[in-house]
Amino acid sequence: MPDIDWNLAAWSGGRDWSGEGEAWSQPWGGSEAQWFGVLYPRLHRRLPAPAIMEIAPGFGRWTRFLLPQCTSFVGVDLSQTAIEACRDTFAAASHASFVCNDGLTLPPGGPLDLVFSFDSLVHAEFEVFEAYVPQILARLAPGGVAFLHHSNLAALDPAMDNPHHRARSVSAARLRHLVAISGGAVLVQEVIAWGEFPQHDCMTLFGRRDSFPASRPTLLDNPDSWREAWMIQQYQAPWNR
Ligand SMILES: C[S@@+](CC[C@H](N)C(=O)[O-])C[C@H]1O[C@@H](n2cnc3c(N)ncnc32)[C@H](O)[C@@H]1O
Repeated sequence: MPDIDWNLAAWSGGRDWSGEGEAWSQPWGGSEAQWFGVLYPRLHRRLPAPAIMEIAPGFGRWTRFLLPQCTSFVGVDLSQTAIEACRDTFAAASHASFVCNDGLTLPPGGPLDLVFSFDSLVHAEFEVFEAYVPQILARLAPGGVAFLHHSNLAALDPAMDNPHHRARSVSAARLRHLVAISGGAVLVQEVIAWGEFPQHDCMTLFGRRDSFPASRPTLLDNPDSWREAWMIQQYQAPWNR
């Protein structure tokens, strides 16, 4: 199971970060295509956002798209290797700071307009969300939202293969319940495929209940998300650049 020690070992020290995670965007044709084809369409109504926190930026694959969208940015990651790389890469961004944490504790601060995490907390077990969700809600500004990409494996067959090291204790339904009992409101949950596995992951958008008193969760099942990736990739052919 990918617990905090597993994540620390996987993403620190001797980890080969050459390419800075860009290879993970290959199914979409690169991180720029994935940002503009997948993430920005889902977030554009929330952007620009004055104060952004990114949880688990790694080497900054999404940070470079988030920084121009805010006036204050904090990236928090378990891996000192990742934090040092971000400090170096984004040294010219005077509105950005990067903090190494213990995988459970967010830095003080706020109010935050957007908390963002993609392609990281899929490896985080439920205990991490039990720690982070109340802290996120406590830091969100009125009207602010969090967008977290996480595992949905707890909803699937416990015997299924897990080559992408997803957390088996997390599902869309478990996260939705956690957000609700923590004083939040889930706005949208989109269950997505990863590779050949339908319903493998989920993206959850939520805010404070007092910011969205009348909202009801929009629950989306998107088994075609990997086909969408392929479609987006077709627009990125090298001979079209
Ligand atoms: C697969 S990398 C992805 C990084 C980046 N989001 C990207 O898409 O390129 C996973 C990152 O999540 C971080 N991470 C894992 N669990 C974490 C936790 N509980 N809190 C903070 N960071 C965590 C790791 O240290 C690593 O930098």
